[in-house]
Amino acid sequence: MKRAHFVPDNNFLDDVRSIRTKAQEYLLCQTFLNEGDRDPQLAINLLQGALAAEILCIWRYTMISVSLAGLENPRIGKEFQEQANVESKHMRMIAERIVQLGSIPDFSPTGLSSRYGEYGSQADFSGLVAQNLIAEQEVAQHYRDLVGYFAGRDRITCDMLVDILEDETDHITDMQDLLALRDDQAPNRT
Ligand SMILES: [Fe+2]
Ligand SMILES: [Fe+2]
Repeated sequence: MKRAHFVPDNNFLDDVRSIRTKAQEYLLCQTFLNEGDRDPQLAINLLQGALAAEILCIWRYTMISVSLAGLENPRIGKEFQEQANVESKHMRMIAERIVQLGSIPDFSPTGLSSRYGEYGSQADFSGLVAQNLIAEQEVAQHYRDLVGYFAGRDRITCDMLVDILEDETDHITDMQDLLALRDDQAPNRT
């Protein structure tokens, strides 16, 4: 039976959520556009938000990889470094696309409440992974929103976002597997 995991709020989750909320506000503002119409600045704003979310995930997963839990358990350290590497690939893809569209990628994103993620201790590792799971679900939904906007407007950006969304969906499964593994290793509580 699956355990319910306590998911404390933290700056990382707050920031991921606020980036998605901002994208939703941008998308609401474009409802007057006809399908197929392009707003170049809107496209850049949406991609800058996605870039910010990727940067947060790189920070977060690298920090977990080098945390006590990551250093003491090679599987955890390797798993999170691999995830950070995938997010880094996404960051580069989005940054390159922003340049191709004629703008400058913002690598010190404003509007974040914390500008960094907490990584905590081994004692609350399951809580960290549970936060990551929610963040990945938010990020995946964020990319679905963006794919919905770019489809029919910008095929290159849309294809890129679909590829990234596929990786984010894998990350959701990875977090679920990690949580299940911790549950299996935890002593039975009856
Ligand atoms: Fe990503
Ligand atoms: Fe991810």
